[in-house]
Amino acid sequence: MSNKVTIQNGKLQVPNHVTIPFIEGDGIGRDISEPAQSIVNAAVEAAYSKERSIEWKEVLAGEKAHKKTGEWLPAQTIDTFKEHIVGIKGPLTTPVGGGIRSLNVALRQELDLYVCLRPIRWFKGVPSPVKYPSTVDMHIFRENTEDIYAGIEFMTGTPEAEKFKALMKENFGLDAVRFPDTTSFGIKPISKEGSKRLVRAAIDYAVKHDLPSVTLVHKGNIMKFTEGAFKNWGYEVAEKEFNKQTFTWRQYEKIASEQGAEIAKEKVKEARKEGKIIVKDVITDAFLQESLLRPYDHSVIATMNLNGDYISDQLAAMVGGIGISPGANINYDSGFAIFEATHGTAPTIAGTGQANPSSLILSAALMLEYMGWNEAAEHIYDALEHTFSKRKVTADLFTLMEGATLLSTKEFTNEVVKNMH
Ligand code: NAI
Repeated sequence: MSNKVTIQNGKLQVPNHVTIPFIEGDGIGRDISEPAQSIVNAAVEAAYSKERSIEWKEVLAGEKAHKKTGEWLPAQTIDTFKEHIVGIKGPLTTPVGGGIRSLNVALRQELDLYVCLRPIRWFKGVPSPVKYPSTVDMHIFRENTEDIYAGIEFMTGTPEAEKFKALMKENFGLDAVRFPDTTSFGIKPISKEGSKRLVRAAIDYAVKHDLPSVTLVHKGNIMKFTEGAFKNWGYEVAEKEFNKQTFTWRQYEKIASEQGAEIAKEKVKEARKEGKIIVKDVITDAFLQESLLRPYDHSVIATMNLNGDYISDQLAAMVGGIGISPGANINYDSGFAIFEATHGTAPTIAGTGQANPSSLILSAALMLEYMGWNEAAEHIYDALEHTFSKRKVTADLFTLMEGATLLSTKEFTNEVVKNMH
């Protein structure tokens, strides 16, 4: 029998004994990859005894791939991810110079992984800069394929920038450009398809996980036809495709202007009683403030690439930082998904035993949930929480926690496994 994940009639089929490809990663990737796998193996065994298991299949990328094959991202690695549908990776160095693209961006583009999912939750015992960290429970859906990340930029003084400037001057004038002689240009593509599939995935996730709201975060007051359009397309998806499951802020405003605010407020109450998801929108700067002051007001966050980048790190910091935040890159149509540590290769601590493996461990738990192996994921969450609440932590959290015991990556891993039983 095949041990590969497959897609049948649009649904993920996961065999009980499954092969999962993984990229070890550079820098601390080498320190955290094996610990994360041993914790996942222990969780799967604790949940299903011998009935289910994971066989880990290494694929090459980054420095290891370059040393062994001369390539940073061999085609075989992409093929293996495509063949197995679900995979996991450690952090990869972005090779400097030589026009080599970021390996992470390349992987996302090759597999069209349009959602970057970052769940943000607090684990009891973890130091946090917010007053009530237990109220933080957010799920970020960051668009992964568009926005200024498309890399359409022209450096001032280059022939490309001159050409672009001439095109602009001829067609639109240059009045809006304050210093045309020394200006670099960047282009921000935001499409209807790209926005709609992202918001569709976010609402669908809220429906499946029984979450109360979806917030569209945008700067549409300034960027009307890109970020503003994202907001409108997002509302369209909610109102047309999830009409029965959602109530939007746009619908509220329409009722309020036609029938008065009192009736509109009643409609919101009714929608809440019926268990409908409230879809609203917030301007990015206001969101950054609100998410700190009233985190409980936001559940699923749907936003574009750059906003998503900033928001992810702020929200991660609210629950203990990038060392313990999980991430996934997913295409909800094809099913392809690569789960990953959200931090980089941390070269200054690589090989010292100081790395916190929790980000990769939690990403693996997210992968188990994606595969429908929720019981194993729960074992991981419980064991981690238990370990943090006993104040047994790696160096990154040690300095922030009073009365903590400092553990190396390996000791922390052993402690988590011990706490699973
Ligand atoms: P970084 O995330 O590697 O490090 C930032 C800071 O956080 C450092 O002080 C580091 O020691 C600390 N840190 C990160 N992860 C930690 C962990 N698990 N445990 C304890 N401390 C941790 O970001 P930086 O320095 O900007 O990037 C280093 C390299 O990583 C670059 O080549 C960059 O391109 C790459 N990178 C790769 C990513 C990926 O593969 N997804 C994401 C971000 C950066």
